[in-house]
Amino acid sequence: MALVSTKEMFAKALNEDYAIGAFNVNNMEIIQGIVDAASIENAPLILQVSAGARKYAKPAYLTKLVEAAIIDTGVDVALHLDHGEDFDICKKCVDDGFTSVMIDGSKHPFEENIALTKEVVEYAHAHGVVVEAELGKLAGVEDNVKVDARSATFTDPDEAAEFVERTGVDSLAIAIGTSHGAYKFKGDPYLDFERLKKIHALIPDTPLVLHGASSVLKEFVDRCNEYGGKIPGAQGVPEEMIREAAKYGICKVNIDTDLRLAMTAEIRRVLVENPAEFDPRKYLGPGRDAITRMVQHKIKNVLNCSGRK
Ligand code: G3H
Ligand code: 13P
Ligand code: ZN
Repeated sequence: MALVSTKEMFAKALNEDYAIGAFNVNNMEIIQGIVDAASIENAPLILQVSAGARKYAKPAYLTKLVEAAIIDTGVDVALHLDHGEDFDICKKCVDDGFTSVMIDGSKHPFEENIALTKEVVEYAHAHGVVVEAELGKLAGVEDNVKVDARSATFTDPDEAAEFVERTGVDSLAIAIGTSHGAYKFKGDPYLDFERLKKIHALIPDTPLVLHGASSVLKEFVDRCNEYGGKIPGAQGVPEEMIREAAKYGICKVNIDTDLRLAMTAEIRRVLVENPAEFDPRKYLGPGRDAITRMVQHKIKNVLNCSGRK
């Protein structure tokens, strides 16, 4: 039981065509809910922390909570920085004991993204930490019907190969049609599988990462709305598309929105059904259990990584 690297996890996943969930964490109940699911399912696990999560919870709390979850369950966890925007935050996380960092230079021109990524790779590798980078821009909702917008923002396969070669990065986040949050597509869901296949064919040994991979499960959106929420028009990536993507090199599947929805739906239900309740344990506990159930579902039915630890 330990904080572990993603290196071995990804090599196995790449070889056996399954994926590993990378779940965003912000507080104790979310961490416990996810780690309990991985423990029950004997699954590999990545917990990731965004800059916003670090600010909200304060860095020491999150690392110590993750360490506590490892001690409590014996689950191995890769602790990852999500969307590090500069060298400084990546360095801080390496120094804090993270086993993986993401440098997200996707907003920069190609050469600048390469230079920034190389700088992080050099520091992280010298400290035994692996690095994820990103090339291409995740789709905005309005992009999904426009082919021109796709080729302007989606990851170019040749550039992906050159990027990996020149940076020495360990894994690569690509843009093939997903986006962050609960409103991913205006029309029918669309992922550019032909582009994914080309990228995977050019860099078959590089683990690929799918951001914005929540499925925005109807069950939770409906429950939120039934209990006073207003989340109209939410739409995620169909689960069968995630399963398909795992066949073409997608090893890491980033999930945050589905956690938020599962927890919030349950908290809404408890509070509406028990309006006299004011003990936080009485609603955070069920919220935590809802996360465990949802993560178990992902591990078993979507990522196909149950029993793969
Ligand atoms: O990719 C973004 C993640 O969902 C983290 O979101 O920046 O609100 O913590 P956040
Ligand atoms: P979702 O908003 O689809 O959960 O994506 C999360 C993510 O990509 C975190 O980096
Ligand atoms: Zn992301």
